[in-house]
Amino acid sequence: MDPQPLARKVAIVTGSASGIGKGIALRFAEEGADVSCWDLNLEGAKETAREVEKAGRKSLALQVDVTKSGEVEDAAKAVFDQFGKIDILVNSAGIIRAHFITEVPEEIWDSIITINLKGTFLCIREIAKYMIPQNSGKIISISSKSGKKGGLWLGAYSASKFGIIGLTQSVAMDLAPYKINVNAICPGNVFSTPMWDLLDKEYSKKLGVPPQEVRKIYVEKVPLGRECTVEDVANVAVFLASSYSDYMTGQAINVTGGQEVH
Ligand SMILES: NC(=O)c1ccc[n+]([C@@H]2O[C@H](COP(=O)([O-])OP(=O)(O)OC[C@H]3O[C@@H](n4cnc5c(N)ncnc54)[C@H](O)[C@@H]3O)[C@@H](O)[C@H]2O)c1
Repeated sequence: MDPQPLARKVAIVTGSASGIGKGIALRFAEEGADVSCWDLNLEGAKETAREVEKAGRKSLALQVDVTKSGEVEDAAKAVFDQFGKIDILVNSAGIIRAHFITEVPEEIWDSIITINLKGTFLCIREIAKYMIPQNSGKIISISSKSGKKGGLWLGAYSASKFGIIGLTQSVAMDLAPYKINVNAICPGNVFSTPMWDLLDKEYSKKLGVPPQEVRKIYVEKVPLGRECTVEDVANVAVFLASSYSDYMTGQAINVTGGQEVH
């Protein structure tokens, strides 16, 4: 492998104030990329940007609500103006809530679909405008194992994550003539993320067990016998962002320890 497969690349990572997005941003910096960190949480994005710079790369932290087309458009322009190109987009901004179907509040349905699916669409739409004239680019969206298989109480989340896979397959066709690769990653259960602090409580209700037992139940479903780590996801993101994946597009790669195989 190239010692720095992302050398001289410019990446945008949405949702990079925490969790998987932060892990991918920092790993991209280690692999040689300059990284613009986008998040609603500006302080968190700035902290990630400081860590990118500590790794010797350039960074630009921006407060961006991925559901607002004007903000996404302005932020993409700011990155292009500062760095002169955009090579990689990672869509990691997302939320989850778990409710029995008759109890899903309409506003929760709307916010899950809007942030996870429309936000991914808006970022792809705006950043593809810069990648098309370059005749190159890598777009990676974080779906989920819930994007391959529905789950108890996860109607809205699962619909948004299936949607990301349909979007990925379709946009891959649109952008193939421009040598832009469009793929998704479907992680398993990444317990180290803030998302799981919430899920422990919500899943404890749905499973009828104490919060501290939830993770054990989820690990027991994994053939490789452990949780998914941010590093497991970042490894695949680096591959999909690098030239090693040049002949792959429209794929949704499971990183689930064997829990999902389709
Ligand atoms: N944690 C898991 O087990 C897991 C598993 C599979 C997939 N995922 C997916 O991975 C992605 C990252 O999740 P995570 O676990 O790192 O969660 P996280 O909560 O740590 O990170 C999500 C980030 O998105 C940001 N965000 C939320 N709404 C936004 C908006 N409108 N605009 C911009 N930023 C916004 C948040 O501020 C946060 O920093 C999500 O899409 C999630 O669905 C997570």
